[in-house]
Amino acid sequence: MTLRIRLLAALAYVLLLAVIALGVPLAINLSARVKAEVRTQARAQADLVAATSADLLQRPSLALSRLARKAAVSVRGRVIIVNSRGTILVDSAGPRELGASYLSRPEIAAALRGRQVQFERNSRTLGQPILATAAPIIRNGRPIGAVRVTQSTAAVDSAVRQGQLGLGLIGAIVLALGLFAGAIIAEQVARPLRRLECVARRVAQGDLRARARVEGSREQRSLAASFNEMTDRIARLVAAQRGFVADASHQLRTPLTGLRLRLEEAKVLTDSPASEGEIDAAVGEVDRLTRTVDELLVLSRAGERQLTGSRLDLRELAASAVERWRAPAAARGISLQHRRTEAESPVWAARADVERVLDILLENAVGYSPVGGRVTVVSAPSRLEVHDRGPGVAADEREAVFDRFRRGRAGTAGPPGSGLGLAIARELARGWGGDVTLEDRPGGGAVAIVSLPQHRDPTQGLPAINPTIGTLP
Ligand SMILES: Nc1ncnc2c1ncn2[C@@H]1O[C@H](COP(=O)(O)OP(=O)(O)OP(=O)(O)O)[C@@H](O)[C@H]1O
Ligand SMILES: [Mg+2]
Repeated sequence: MTLRIRLLAALAYVLLLAVIALGVPLAINLSARVKAEVRTQARAQADLVAATSADLLQRPSLALSRLARKAAVSVRGRVIIVNSRGTILVDSAGPRELGASYLSRPEIAAALRGRQVQFERNSRTLGQPILATAAPIIRNGRPIGAVRVTQSTAAVDSAVRQGQLGLGLIGAIVLALGLFAGAIIAEQVARPLRRLECVARRVAQGDLRARARVEGSREQRSLAASFNEMTDRIARLVAAQRGFVADASHQLRTPLTGLRLRLEEAKVLTDSPASEGEIDAAVGEVDRLTRTVDELLVLSRAGERQLTGSRLDLRELAASAVERWRAPAAARGISLQHRRTEAESPVWAARADVERVLDILLENAVGYSPVGGRVTVVSAPSRLEVHDRGPGVAADEREAVFDRFRRGRAGTAGPPGSGLGLAIARELARGWGGDVTLEDRPGGGAVAIVSLPQHRDPTQGLPAINPTIGTLP
């Protein structure tokens, strides 16, 4: 789960708790208050109508019906006025029931006995629960009639529900606004971390020029600054190490050339065939050492070279490598072949680099193949493969042989070498966004694969992805 989603989920949880903690008691309180209000208002209206009607009851007039209707509107119910026998004199609902006796209604009976009452009961006429409020009309100290206010409790409940719905709506709006604000905050927190992660990945891939943007909160800024400091230090260390290797290799070349010359002179001067043999062996060792020094120089400069890339046809490169290696392979009785696909496979890289990679792989294939074997170079879109029928590379050393100075079982059992070939090949291929890998060949042997990114747009050369420093030793 991403940091942003985590923050949002936590915020939603807290907001929901807050809305529930505040909203539920409020909703309960609202229901109680609405009900109490309805009851109080009904009692007040019944009392008001009863007090006003005391004088008007002898001659029920228009004023009395107007009064009842007004009260009915204000309580959203029905208001009737009865005389001392329970007969309806005024009805806010219309003239239909005028003259009817309501003495059987318990609230009317109670009011005519001089008591003010209020209770909920089931209305037989309406078939639903009602709130009945009745007040006696008193004149000269005795009840001469009664006023009754009836309201549907369903209407009261619906008013309560509407209030609660309103509260729920406010809660939902608060939640949505909170989450919106939370999303903005979460994005602000997560963005610098995301950017830092991208930069860390670039550094891990060898781009030691990448630096994090120092932004965000104090902690995030401090983290980015520490990261940059760390990368600076690594870059300095790697550069210093490469510089040292380059200098050391350079310094070794001149004495090695001198040593070789002296050995050749010594060979001319000696008469003993035994010494000549020894001198030849020593020259061979000097040559091997010179090659290792050269390879070290290539490796140390791999990141700094500014070779220009060009559009290359892998089929043509494979064909010329086969030509270059035909004679050395023939010397070992090995036949060399080129198998090509029909499709053109243009890639973008420096020609010298790809040639060097192919030379390294062909040198291995020819060197580790049994005498009389066959080596095939296959050119396919975006990749070149070198197939041989040698001992192959066991799975447990297939990655390790790419380390510098690492020789595998075939290497130690075969011709002398430095263990730098594959390290150089991989470094050069990766410099152009490609790679070198080793695989098993069905039926025995190894397949060394160079892959390079396809060159898609012929009008626009892809920029060289030259690694600045490469991987740490
Ligand atoms: N085609 C192959 N068949 C079998 N083993 C191979 C093959 N190519 C490479 N290897 C193994 O990988 C090891 C590393 O190869 P790499 O080319 O880096 O060094 P090397 O050949 O030992 O020495 P050099 O640096 O002089 O080429 C070899 O020692 C060998 O064990
Ligand atoms: Mg080799």
